[in-house]
Amino acid sequence: MKGVAMQYSPLADRLAGEGAAAWDIHFRAVAAQARGEDVIVLSVGDPDLCTPTAVIESAVAALRAGQTHYSAIIGEAPLRAAIAAHFQSHGGWPAGPDNVCVVAGAQNGLFCASMLLFQPGDQVLVLDPCYVTYEATLRAGGAEPVRVPPRPGGGFRPNPEAVRAAITPRTRGLMFATPNNPTGVVLSADELAALAEIAREADVWVVSDEVYASLCFEAEHRCIAALPGMAERTVTVSSLSKSHAMTGWRLGWMIGPPGLIAHAANLALCVLYGLPPFIQTAGVTALAEADAIAADMRTVFRRRRDRLLGDLDGIPGLRVLPPEAGMFVMADVSDTGLSSAAFARSLYQEQGVAVLDASAFGASAAGHIRLSYVLAEDHLSEAARRLAAFCRTRAGGLAQGGRHG
Ligand SMILES: Cc1ncc(COP(=O)(O)O)c(C=O)c1O
Repeated sequence: MKGVAMQYSPLADRLAGEGAAAWDIHFRAVAAQARGEDVIVLSVGDPDLCTPTAVIESAVAALRAGQTHYSAIIGEAPLRAAIAAHFQSHGGWPAGPDNVCVVAGAQNGLFCASMLLFQPGDQVLVLDPCYVTYEATLRAGGAEPVRVPPRPGGGFRPNPEAVRAAITPRTRGLMFATPNNPTGVVLSADELAALAEIAREADVWVVSDEVYASLCFEAEHRCIAALPGMAERTVTVSSLSKSHAMTGWRLGWMIGPPGLIAHAANLALCVLYGLPPFIQTAGVTALAEADAIAADMRTVFRRRRDRLLGDLDGIPGLRVLPPEAGMFVMADVSDTGLSSAAFARSLYQEQGVAVLDASAFGASAAGHIRLSYVLAEDHLSEAARRLAAFCRTRAGGLAQGGRHG
């Protein structure tokens, strides 16, 4: 297009973020798959499962009943009540509808929290490695994300002493996900208590991303917001994306003190103007069935995780970290002599398996790849077979692989 070079706001650059290169393989793999090529995509966290039928039927019935108009911007009252009740019965504090703002997925909630809590000059501590959007989400509002590495020695456990040491007069918040993406680490009661103590002492906000809460296998999910003195300084963000295989519905929420929720409603007015009413009605159905649905999902993902861990066991050059939750496995590939980026690139080129270079999630994950187990078990076994073939070609003299952490 001809003409003058129009200028963008600095926000546009802040949103561009880092780590985009890591997704290159993923997008290439998805395109190749669409062309009918033989590729296995283990690079995304979108379950292959269908949204439960009862939820779909509820949305269809709502559409037929005429729920096609604007809805309450903050979220319809029955849905907010259902979210509050769900939160309370799954480790949260006794929240009510006034503590809930419905948003377009957890990502939208993280963005709203960033806008409402932080301003230019503020620092927000982030447990590294973290979900890829955190960096740009925080920078969008002008805050500076300060990444705190995990405890040394493997396993990606948080390091509260390092968090404490990273506090400065500019620190205004702490943000993390439990369970974590990409590591599958679930923060323990002690770890959460230590982080809560630091947040209270430093008088900062906590943004707790709990989208994988219902996919805990061995570890128990706990809400930092339920600890003493935390409800008033914590924004809990979650959604139906992972728990109900509803990534495309974009139904999420923020839970926090009423003052914050009133501000969130004003922001939602500007950025969202309310979620479609038929989706909100289906959300009430989804939450009414949440425990049964989550139990089914957990069973499926636990079986897949176990199959993948079994198949990856002993592959030379791979050191696998068994996840406590979620839909991802991390594997340290540094013994192959390849960087995680080179490993992911060559694995895709030679074997048609797309995984993510986990350094996109933070420096502490360098040398690791992230594999998602969002496919049926036979596909996972085939992917592991290809991975083994790939590693054998790199593994002259490598010791047997194993698990760590
Ligand atoms: C840790 C984490 N937080 C948030 C999101 C975004 O979830 P939603 O679909 O609810 O926006 C994801 C998606 O993969 C995630 O892994």
